[in-house]
Order: sequence, then structure tokens, then C-alpha cells
Amino acid sequence: MRRSFATLLVAAALLAASASLAARAQGGRQSASGTRVGAGAPVTLTLPNKDDSVRFLLVGDTGTGTRQQNELAQLMLRYHQAFPFEFALLVGDNMYGSEKAADYKKKFEDVYRPLLDRKVKFYASLGNHDESNQRFYEHFNMNGEEYYRIKKGDVAFYALNSNYMDKKQLQWLEEQLAKDTSAWKVAFFHHPPYSSGGKHGSETSLREVIEPLFIKYGVNVVLAGHEHFYERIKPQKGIYYFISGAGGKLRKGDVKKGSPLTAKAYDADMSFMLVEMTKEEMHFQVISRTGETVDSGVLPNQRRRSSASN
Ligand SMILES: [Fe+2]
Repeated sequence: MRRSFATLLVAAALLAASASLAARAQGGRQSASGTRVGAGAPVTLTLPNKDDSVRFLLVGDTGTGTRQQNELAQLMLRYHQAFPFEFALLVGDNMYGSEKAADYKKKFEDVYRPLLDRKVKFYASLGNHDESNQRFYEHFNMNGEEYYRIKKGDVAFYALNSNYMDKKQLQWLEEQLAKDTSAWKVAFFHHPPYSSGGKHGSETSLREVIEPLFIKYGVNVVLAGHEHFYERIKPQKGIYYFISGAGGKLRKGDVKKGSPLTAKAYDADMSFMLVEMTKEEMHFQVISRTGETVDSGVLPNQRRRSSASN
């Protein structure tokens, strides 16, 4: 009896080892609970994936260089094979700790090398852990500016520096927005104006100065990080808000349960978000490190709808 129990144990150990080898053969890893992570996780695309739409990835708070950040990046690569997003937005905290050349390599280049090799362009905004000098780093495509505008198809993207929102930056933003006729106006920056995070929560002083501009000039979507989880906020004064700050760190269980702001939240593992925009619609899909689609959906372009009804 004892011998057969021992045999069972050996067989179970062998099975576990072979499962983990199989995951590794795919470039993935199996967690202690048996869940596949990173390259071994499943890929299930819910987006329309049309050639003429604007397709991008959003992730924040990435700069750790940890195994988990790498595993999430492996999954980004697998999704890129299925959904060839052209660029990626970084919503800050691109670099934790020291920011020497070796850190840029370990915490960014080594992690995202396969995406860089596939010509994915990263556009960064600065978080509270980021030095201003990052604006000169070629792979962050900031052109030496802490805040800047880029245009992709019919979508204008405004990278802001939410570490401070002085008169000069606000004036620049207002001038740009006032003359912007793009179908979509998207702002991305680090600190979330609305958040259900227990540690940080909504950045209300930032909100007070930028929200009036967003409303006045028809900004459609606001993308932020800082909180190490994912949250889709219920539309606020007609604007869509997302938080995707679990790219390198996770603050497990930090989203306040029952928050009136939350449309959907996920704080059980790290995640990134894929977005596809047509003139009329914004499609999104949020994927965890374990390959689970934790949120997805489609939102109409608010301004096109309102101008059609006017
Ligand atoms: Fe932060």
C-alpha cells in the first residue's frame, strides 16, 4: 500500500514536470496554481482587427525588469501576431529606481525587444518615478518634449505630464485642442483623474484643472496609470476614462469594492489593454498575464453622435 502511494507521488511529480516542460517549450511558464502565464497563456482576440483602423496597445507602470513584466510582454508579442497594433502608449512610471543606460536596457529594451523588432513604436508619458531626461530617449519617441501631440489616422493623442500642470502646459493643451478637428481626441498621462484605488484614488486637484478643457474641446477618451490595476470608469461628464497601470507591478485587491466609479475593474494580476478605433467606435480588450480577457467592449464616438443629432 505504501509502495503504491509512493508510486503515485512519483507519477504526479513526473506529470507536473512534463506539464511545466511543455509550457516552457512554448516559451511560457506555469504558475504554482497550474495557470499558464506569459507566452504559454492562451490568445483569444475579441477585437474586429480591421486593416484601416487605428490599433494600439496601452500599458503603464512597466519599468521594473522583473520576470512578471517580461511574462506580460511575451503575451503582448503573441497578441501582436494576432492583432498587429502599430504602436504602444506608456502611461508613465516607465522606469523604477535608477535610470542608467543599463536600466533602460533591463527595464525596457530587453523586455520589449521582440515588439521593437516588429517596428512597434512606443510613445511615453512621464510618471512620478520618471526623470525628465526620458524625453530624449529614442524609443520613447517624445522628441525632447514632456508633453506632445501625435496623430494616427483620425485620432489625435495628447501625451501630458501630469506631475505638474502649470499654466504653460495648460495653455499649450488649450491651443492644440482648440484647432484640433480629429474624429477622436485621446489624452494619456500618468495620474488618473478618476480612480477607485485604495492607495491613491482620484487625483482631484489635477481633475479640477484639466477636466474643464477636456469638456470644452470634446476630448473623448482619457488613459492613465499610476494605480497598479485595471479600471474602466463609468463615463464622467461624457468622457471615457481607463486606468491601465499593472504592466510591471500589481497592487492586488486595491480597487475599492462597490465603488460608484467602477464600470469594470481587475486587480488580481497584471494586465495590458488593446484598443482599436474606427471613426465611429472604440473597441477595447484587456488581457491579464494569465491570458484571461478581463474586460472588452465597444464605445461609440460621443462627438460624432452628438453632432449628428444637432
Ligand atoms: Fe506612479
